[in-house]
Amino acid sequence: MAEEKKLPKEQKPEEKKESSGISRREFLKDAGFVAGGAAAGTAFIKLLGCEKVTPEGVMKYVCPYCKEEFDTFDELKAHVAAEHAVAPIAPETIKLTVNGHLYELTLGVEVNEWDTLVYTLRDVLKLTGTKIGCDHGDCGMCTVLINGEAALSCMTLTVECDGKEITTIEGLANPETGVLHPIQQAFVENYGFQCGICTPGMIMTTKALLDKNPNPTEEEARAALAGNICRCTGYVKIISSVLAAATLLQKTRSKG
Ligand code: FES
Ligand code: FES
Repeated sequence: MAEEKKLPKEQKPEEKKESSGISRREFLKDAGFVAGGAAAGTAFIKLLGCEKVTPEGVMKYVCPYCKEEFDTFDELKAHVAAEHAVAPIAPETIKLTVNGHLYELTLGVEVNEWDTLVYTLRDVLKLTGTKIGCDHGDCGMCTVLINGEAALSCMTLTVECDGKEITTIEGLANPETGVLHPIQQAFVENYGFQCGICTPGMIMTTKALLDKNPNPTEEEARAALAGNICRCTGYVKIISSVLAAATLLQKTRSKG
């Protein structure tokens, strides 16, 4: 039974901006204006990725419902509001079980339709072990487990996770003794990091891999971590760490 946790009361800090001056969450918030006015949840999710660049390099905005193309996002918003209004479907409370603790987040208070999971984890739940690199689904730094599957928390809306189990890097070490999880231990012993910013994502991807394939080959380990970028290490020691983690986990299981 998941233990219920109280939410921290701190103010949400200023969001990190992209070099373009707009954070991913701000973009989503703007995109959510259409769906948020007439609907939320699935309708909102459908608006993500509505932009496309033509072969001539022109940005177009594509209606996710009828595929009609528009020159501006405002035109798309007006079109969706007029032609495709649907009933609200998002629940009023989003229930997330994070590292075994149940959090109930009120929609419009602790969570908005446009909030990404990484934002909710870091800025609302104060679980800052999950890192943000690109904030666009390219680097793997924000990887967490959602219902046991590795997922990019910068590309996942919090409302999509209602009722799901999330595991972050904070959920791996023994909560009572603080003893590191064997995967964490293997990364330490094999120098699988330098600056460490990519390491939580690497470790969570490794966890998803070893949960499914306890004895991966080097090739399988490289394939599993292909979406996780490290700017420091050259990957050799990371892959050694993954393979060492597999051995350490097997030893731990045979002892236990
Ligand atoms: S921060 Fe999510 S993939 Fe880069
Ligand atoms: S250890 Fe620095 S980015 Fe991977």
